[in-house]
Amino acid sequence: MVEPVRKAVFPVAGLGTRFLPATKVLPKEMLAVVDKPLIQYAVEEAREAGIEDFIFVTGRGKSLIEDHFDHAVELEHVLKERGKDEALRSVLDCMPGRVFYTRQRQPLGLGHAVGCARGFVDGGPFAVLLPDDLILAEPGCLKQMMEVYRETGGNLVAVEDVPRAHTMRYGILDVVEDDGRLVRARGLVEKPAPEDAPSTLSIIGRYILGPEIFPHLDRHELGAGNEIQLTDAMARTIGEVPFHGLRFSGKRFDCGGKLGYLEANIAFALTRDELAGDVRAMLKEYA
Ligand code: G1P
Repeated sequence: MVEPVRKAVFPVAGLGTRFLPATKVLPKEMLAVVDKPLIQYAVEEAREAGIEDFIFVTGRGKSLIEDHFDHAVELEHVLKERGKDEALRSVLDCMPGRVFYTRQRQPLGLGHAVGCARGFVDGGPFAVLLPDDLILAEPGCLKQMMEVYRETGGNLVAVEDVPRAHTMRYGILDVVEDDGRLVRARGLVEKPAPEDAPSTLSIIGRYILGPEIFPHLDRHELGAGNEIQLTDAMARTIGEVPFHGLRFSGKRFDCGGKLGYLEANIAFALTRDELAGDVRAMLKEYA
């Protein structure tokens, strides 16, 4: 029996240098797509997938994220007094289940950030969600992964095919089996040059990991970009535990970059009944 996944880690210490000056003081995870911050989409996706404990690995200048997931007493009071029920509900609905915060004190990489959450998640499986990767999917990407994870156990990541010229932006799988949806990998490479990439199947920011990852993260070995890479630690668990990639159904937007972020705003606005018609009409003006 595979143990159910109830904890999720949100690494949110990154600087967001691709979005300056917007992210000079605003955490990049607080950038809104339509009317919700990126981090809230990730939290809602995790909640839909059955996550109960939410662990944020934050850094300096990220305290707005903590405020977002707390009561806003004055605002709630005013909205209640004015009978703005829908607005009040949207404010109260922000808050997930149990929330924990820890700080990554140095920017040593994604692997290091996940290692900072060890005290909260060690001993059982846990999910990792990177809020920059916003995914429009029904059901949500992590829920799709949970269903597959019940069969595979081990480590499971969401994957998608990317143009070969883009392999140096991602963790790339060295694939041994591929049924079109689920793939098994024998190796992983972080951000390989196109000519060195073992495939064009890339990891996107959704992971279900087992505790076997931590001894490898603890070694603090530096990888691509001189950072402690989660990809390298996952690669080392291959052979110890199964490693699979899931081609999820849905569309992923790279909201760490301007084009992906703009496209996400349009795509998510088009899913909203109250906006879709007007947005479509507006887009015609720019065609
Ligand atoms: C991180 C991971 C990479 C993964 C990517 C998905 O890279 O290191 O393996 O493919 O997220 O978005 P980053 O985007 O932080 O450079």
